[in-house]
Amino acid sequence: MNFENLKTEVENGILTITINRESKMNALNLKTVEEIGEAFSQAQSNQDVRGIILTGAGDKAFVAGADISELNTLNSVEGKKFAQKGQEIFASIEQSAKPVIAAVNGYALGGGCELAMACHIRVASDNAIFGLPEVTLGIIPGYGGTQRMTQLVGKGKAIELMTTADMIPAEYAEKLGLVNHAVTLDELIPTCEKILGKIFKKAAPLAVGKVIACVNAYYNVAEDGFKAEANAFGDCCQTEDFVEGTTAFVEKRKAVFKGK
Ligand code: COA
Repeated sequence: MNFENLKTEVENGILTITINRESKMNALNLKTVEEIGEAFSQAQSNQDVRGIILTGAGDKAFVAGADISELNTLNSVEGKKFAQKGQEIFASIEQSAKPVIAAVNGYALGGGCELAMACHIRVASDNAIFGLPEVTLGIIPGYGGTQRMTQLVGKGKAIELMTTADMIPAEYAEKLGLVNHAVTLDELIPTCEKILGKIFKKAAPLAVGKVIACVNAYYNVAEDGFKAEANAFGDCCQTEDFVEGTTAFVEKRKAVFKGK
């Protein structure tokens, strides 16, 4: 597997996928999202792979969100398509028949938080910070975040976290049920390997895939929510506040919103 923005390695049945744009806090540009989709697709048919760990390069960020410099020019039709494409690729992670663990090693904001939530299990290092700050850019989470955050932490907390854009440190994320375990950075990958090791030792691979499929089936009723999210993301892209929010980030200044 050769990718521009990912590093991949298979060892002892574990495929480790590292998002590798460290100078941009591993932000997800379109190329990276497509490569993640490709890596997960290849992993399904690779007999050497029994489980997957997804992480970010360096020790500052897992993924600091969608690449804001690419968002800036989206109109409402393009915005909806952008959201649908990300939703589709993240759904392929969620539907992987092989267990996927997000090893969250720093900022997991916006699309990065959504990416971690699409994985089956999340382990966070103590420097990890989660958050869905899209409203500060004049948009909403568009890669399934409005749905999966609600599934993981419940309605009240989800609405609070997505409207306040609050940052969520690892320890609080564990309390909320947003992550399975919060550990030190040194323990991060070993903990993920330990969990996968247990699965490999005890569980029949086909049964593992069936458990994942059945748990996902519980949430299939949420399909309309994903559609509503993509539509609403597109709607936000035609507002003046979206242009202001994303431009302000690129220009490194505070956004001034007008509610238009
Ligand atoms: N999209 C594009 N570029 C991003 C990015 C993103 N989501 N997140 C970080 N970067 C870039 C910065 O523009 C900067 O690039 P530069 O060196 O060319 O100027 C570089 O990554 C380093 O980020 P910087 O902001 O200087 O680091 P920091 O330690 O001061 O802050 C964050 C780290 C994560 C708090 C901050 O980068 C941030 O708020 N990022 C955006 C988070 C967000 O809103 N995500 C949701 C997107 S939908």
